[in-house]
Amino acid sequence: MRRRSLLVGAVLAAGASLGPTACSSGSVPEVPAGPDGEADPVLVAGRRVYADRCVNCHGVRGQGGRGPSLAGDSMAESYPSAADQAEVVADGKSTMPGFSNTLTPAEIEAVVRFTREVL
Ligand code: HEC
Repeated sequence: MRRRSLLVGAVLAAGASLGPTACSSGSVPEVPAGPDGEADPVLVAGRRVYADRCVNCHGVRGQGGRGPSLAGDSMAESYPSAADQAEVVADGKSTMPGFSNTLTPAEIEAVVRFTREVL
């Protein structure tokens, strides 16, 4: 009996330590430095919005999950115009919520640029 409760404790501890890692915003890709050696501050802001609002459904690397993949060239192909993509983020699309009430237009533009240029 004693052994079993120790085992349960170990499993719970392992689960607890996995949790934060799996959801950590730390795994969202960093914005690479631009030609001037600095990361574009708009992309850095977009990364923060992505980590806060989008990872749960689109994955830390934009690989998809509850929502489709936003990674690679997929977004630039589906939305040649970034403004059209921003409209989806603002207004939502089927089960995706719209963000026009929770994010500013500048934040939406930043997160759209982050998905197009970094993910
Ligand atoms: C609650 C889950 C959820 C959250 C949070 C979420 N999305 Fe989505 N997203 C979806 C789903 C589901 C779809 C697919 C909608 C459809 O076409 O049926 C989608 C679609 C999209 C699309 C269009 C993809 C395409 O191929 O047309 C974009 C762009 C997008 N999301 C960006 C974002 C951004 C940026 C954020 C964060 C600000 C975000 N999403 C947050 C679930 C989510």
